[in-house]
Amino acid sequence: MNRPFVLINVAATVDGKIDTVERRGAAISSARDKQRVDALRAAFDAVMVGGRTLHVEDPRLTVKSEALRMKRERKGLSPQPAKVGVASRLQLSPGSRFLTDGPARILLFTTSQTDPEQLNMLQAREAHLYVLGGSPIDLVEVLRILKEDEAIERLMVEGGATLNSELLRLGLVDEISVYVAPMIFGGDSAPTLAGGPGLPRDRAMALKLIHSEQWDDGGILLHYQVAR
Ligand SMILES: NC(=O)c1ccc[n+]([C@@H]2O[C@H](COP(=O)([O-])OP(=O)(O)OC[C@H]3O[C@@H](n4cnc5c(N)ncnc54)[C@H](OP(=O)(O)O)[C@@H]3O)[C@@H](O)[C@H]2O)c1
Repeated sequence: MNRPFVLINVAATVDGKIDTVERRGAAISSARDKQRVDALRAAFDAVMVGGRTLHVEDPRLTVKSEALRMKRERKGLSPQPAKVGVASRLQLSPGSRFLTDGPARILLFTTSQTDPEQLNMLQAREAHLYVLGGSPIDLVEVLRILKEDEAIERLMVEGGATLNSELLRLGLVDEISVYVAPMIFGGDSAPTLAGGPGLPRDRAMALKLIHSEQWDDGGILLHYQVAR
C-alpha cells in the first residue's frame, strides 16, 4: 500500500456533532477520553488536521503523558509524533501551539496561495513544507509523500469534518474511532464526523464494528473498520 495505515478519531455528541454551530472547537471529550486520545497519539507516527481545525483551534496534537513519551523513546521513536497540517493557504503565527508545543516534527502540505513570507517563517522553523499544485490539495499524493518521504507508517487524523470526508471519499481510511459524549449540540450547520456534499443511501460507506465500550462517564466508545 502506497500510504500509511489511517485512523480517524473524533469526539462527537449523541446527535453526531463534532462542534457547535459557533465552530470554535467546543470541548466534547471527557477526562477519560482525553487519556485515551493521548495513548492513541502515542501509538501513531503522525497526527493530521485540516486547514480550518489548524487555524481556528490551533491544536497542540502532542502526547501529554510523560510515561507515554518515555515509552516511545524506549522504542527508538521521537517523544512526540509528527504533526501534519493540510491547508491551501497557511496562516500560522510563529508562536502558535501547533508550531511550538512539542517539540515535534512539523509537516505542512499547502499550495502557492500561501504567502512567501509565511513559507520563509515556516522554513526558518525547519518545518517540512510541501507546496503542491491545485486546490483542494491532492490527499492521495499527501499520503504517498508521508509514507515514502517521511516514513510515516501510521497516521492518526483528528478532523475536521471536511478533511475526514475527503479522506473517506477517496478510500484512504482504514479505521474510525468515535467517543460519543452524552450531550446534544443540535444546529444544522454544526459539523459532523464527515462533512462535504454527502452520499446517497445506495453509496453509504459501510463500517464494521470491531470494538465498543460503555463508560462510567456516560459516554460510549465505538471503533470501526471501514469495509472495502
Ligand atoms: N470533535 C472533534 O473530534 C473534532 C476534531 C477536529 C475538528 N473538529 C471541528 O471540526 C471543525 C472544522 O472542520 P471543517 O470541516 O470546517 O475543516 P477541516 O476539515 O479542519 O479543514 C478543511 C480545510 O482544509 C483545507 N484543505 C485543503 N485541501 C483539502 C482536502 N484535499 N480535503 C479537505 N480539506 C482540505 C481546506 O481549507 P483551505 O482551502 O483554506 O486550505 C478545507 O476547507 C471545527 O469546528 C472543529 O472544532 C472537531
